[in-house]
Amino acid sequence: MLFAKLLVVLASALPTIASTFKDKIKRTGIDATFPGDPSYLSASSPFNLRFTWKPAVVTYPENPEEVSQLVQIAVQYNVQVVALSGGHSYIANGLGGQSGVLVVDLRNLGKVTVDSSEGTAVIETGNRLGDVATALANAGRALPHGTCAYVGIGGHAAYGGFGFTSRQWGLTLDTIIAINVVLANGTISRVTNETDPDLFWAFRGAGGSFGLVTSYEVKTFPAPPSATVFEYQWFLDIATAAKGISAFQSFVQTDIPLQFGAEVNFEKGQTSGTLSFTLVGGWYAPVQGLQAVLAPFLRQMPANPEVTLNTGTYLNSVRVLAGGSLDTKPPESHDTFYVKSLMTPTNSPMSDAAVLALSRYLSVEGFASQTEWFVQLELYGGRNSAINNVPRDATSFVNRDSLFTFQFYASSPGKVPPYPQYGFTFLDGAVKSVVSNSPANWEYGAYPNYVDDMLLDWRLRYYGSHYTRLQALKKKYDPRNLFRFPTGIDP
Ligand SMILES: Cc1cc2nc3c(=O)[nH]c(=O)nc-3n(C[C@H](O)[C@H](O)[C@H](O)COP(=O)(O)OP(=O)(O)OC[C@H]3O[C@@H](n4cnc5c(N)ncnc54)[C@H](O)[C@@H]3O)c2cc1C
Ligand SMILES: *[C@@H]1O[C@H](CO)[C@@H](O)[C@H](O)[C@H]1NC(C)=O
Ligand SMILES: *[C@@H]1O[C@H](CO)[C@@H](O)[C@H](O)[C@H]1NC(C)=O
Repeated sequence: MLFAKLLVVLASALPTIASTFKDKIKRTGIDATFPGDPSYLSASSPFNLRFTWKPAVVTYPENPEEVSQLVQIAVQYNVQVVALSGGHSYIANGLGGQSGVLVVDLRNLGKVTVDSSEGTAVIETGNRLGDVATALANAGRALPHGTCAYVGIGGHAAYGGFGFTSRQWGLTLDTIIAINVVLANGTISRVTNETDPDLFWAFRGAGGSFGLVTSYEVKTFPAPPSATVFEYQWFLDIATAAKGISAFQSFVQTDIPLQFGAEVNFEKGQTSGTLSFTLVGGWYAPVQGLQAVLAPFLRQMPANPEVTLNTGTYLNSVRVLAGGSLDTKPPESHDTFYVKSLMTPTNSPMSDAAVLALSRYLSVEGFASQTEWFVQLELYGGRNSAINNVPRDATSFVNRDSLFTFQFYASSPGKVPPYPQYGFTFLDGAVKSVVSNSPANWEYGAYPNYVDDMLLDWRLRYYGSHYTRLQALKKKYDPRNLFRFPTGIDP
């Protein structure tokens, strides 16, 4: 009798492990989708179709207690856990960056609560930037953040958060006052500079490695009464585009107001050896002042660019920059792409040789490339930039002396898989055109929100001198590396 029972137990031992994990999750009553379920494919489909991770389960908790329950189950069954906010990681890290992970999709944590007297807000991490901007603007408030309405606040605030108000207000992560989080041991905690300065430091720059943030408490800013989105487009030859970049680089180191935010976008030209060069930005002051600010730059550029100015409310500017709508309900289309970033040090601006090499590369190789690409040169610095006014060691986000952040972005033809090898080669060459024409020990960085799975020296470029401290804290708070993913801090 006893013997027979034992056999039955042995025979069923293997399938039991997998099915108890599943049963255990099902028994919590938390909404979940497993491989084979009808909703699984869309639940596990990344923004970047270059990746095809298969999560063990995608879960939809409704509160921090349920997030904690899920973490405890994952610990028990030795399954990795990851937070998914807006799903816009460039390398699908929100799905775990590997297969077999318990994904905690935070979409049901959708509240934004504004405290008008304090000027603060509590933003649950199921929110996308479009929802955040709309909710805050309804209360007359604003936050610095990026342009795409679909990007989630979870990842955005964990790794940076740059927009055209960032010179004035800082990165999204610089506005954080407190972080409500579930830690690797399942504990629900409110982390502040007072309760736990180490963790508070780590979360602002490397959040994904330290816990699942359920809400951010942030300081907000009065929404400016008027905002203008501007665009000046030229089609330039190699030498003129290079002169334009150098002119922009000099211009932004003069005394330009903090209400001015901008980037230069490069796209394919109309013929080989030419480039589309567009100055895009936001001006968060009365429109009458803009021309005087831009004049010293425009004087150095060819006459008669194509100009678009859109002046309106602050929320209007957010909508225009998002491409016309802040609605995040309809599912966004996917892309298949590769991205690289490069943050240039203020104390060592790009040389004329680097600028010319980049201009030539994008005008010639860029024209020939079959990828759909763009390159953005985003202005982080300039005098008194709020991004760079934060002391380097105040947060784990290390690159506080950057003048520019480059984003190099190339999609496969038609934006569908498979991603071609020549896409990698093209972007690697673009970065190289700048770096190989810069000093040998050039202290450039990379931007962790433009996360890049091919960046070999990511520890140095994303975290620099902060990596050692992050690693020590990881050992303390997540010794078993429950939150493990490519470019994550490892203990
Ligand atoms: C179209 C587009 C436009 C963009 N524009 C800008 C821009 O203008 N400025 C800018 O700075 N960046 C921009 N980005 C980059 C963007 O900031 C990052 O991709 C960001 O990390 C995405 O966050 P997410 O929550 O949508 O992504 P997810 O894939 O959900 O998460 C990204 C990473 O953050 C972690 N994470 C997410 N939520 C949490 C949480 N609650 N707790 C702990 N970790 C969490 C994930 O685990 C993952 O590692 C853009 C990206 C795209 C796709
Ligand atoms: C979980 O970890 C945190 C941070 O180290 C610690 O303060 C807390 O006591 C731990 N909780 C448990 C139940 O061990
Ligand atoms: C955190 O506290 C330390 C020590 O009291 C202080 O020096 C630092 O400025 C504080 N940082 C923030 C972001 O409040």
